[in-house]
Amino acid sequence: MEVVIVPDARAGGELIADAIAVLLRQKPDALLGVATGSTPLPIYQALAARVSDGAVDASRARICQLDEYVGLPPGHPESYRSVVLREVVEPLGLPASSFMGPDGSAEDVQAACEAYDAALGAAGGVDLQLLGIGTDGHIGFNEPCSSLASRTRIKTLTEQTRRDNARFFDSVDEVPHHVITQGIGTILDARHLVLLATGEGKAQAVADTVEGPVASVVPASALQLHPHATVVVDEAAASKLRLAPYFRNTYATKPEWQGL
Ligand code: PGA
Repeated sequence: MEVVIVPDARAGGELIADAIAVLLRQKPDALLGVATGSTPLPIYQALAARVSDGAVDASRARICQLDEYVGLPPGHPESYRSVVLREVVEPLGLPASSFMGPDGSAEDVQAACEAYDAALGAAGGVDLQLLGIGTDGHIGFNEPCSSLASRTRIKTLTEQTRRDNARFFDSVDEVPHHVITQGIGTILDARHLVLLATGEGKAQAVADTVEGPVASVVPASALQLHPHATVVVDEAAASKLRLAPYFRNTYATKPEWQGL
């Protein structure tokens, strides 16, 4: 995997927005997999700015969701469908029809998971999947010890993740216990994986992901198995990387034309 160390979250957002801009120039109807949480917001802001100043035409882009809470009432402002519509689809000026996600309020959750996996395949697969990382090393909502071959399915959140996400709700008790998430195998099907991690709280998870063994106890370490995975980290999130000087030198001496 390629590791790019940037000064701060804003720089990470700009860099990744540039990579998305390149993709959209090559493939205007690219399927862009988006992540929720606080980390990717600078990417969406940078991309929306490029669209509004005319530097990027995203009008044919398609957007798909990584995961979703199970059991929130439809239209709940913290459902990931609502978040993605609010933070990505609307700022990019895209119609709701350009967006797909798993149905977290389905009566038959298992069938909804299978339908979502099939829909991603029928859409031609994800071109670029954005990822955050949990403090416990999760990607999507694949918590530690998720099968590295898993497909979209229902998962139970760890207490650590529920506490991490409580800031979006009135209290931790309101954070759902269950979620639908693309599986690790599903995520690995995307053509390009781009993980952004910022802040010291992610430093250990980043070090385990990049420099530890591939192990289901650190789900993000599965990125080591992907032929085109990019990990963008700010200085704080890079602070536990033993190979940080090497990663800096690698990126600094990279030919311009290679992109991310
Ligand atoms: P965060 O969430 O960006 O809000 O830290 C990341 C994640 O849980 O994947």
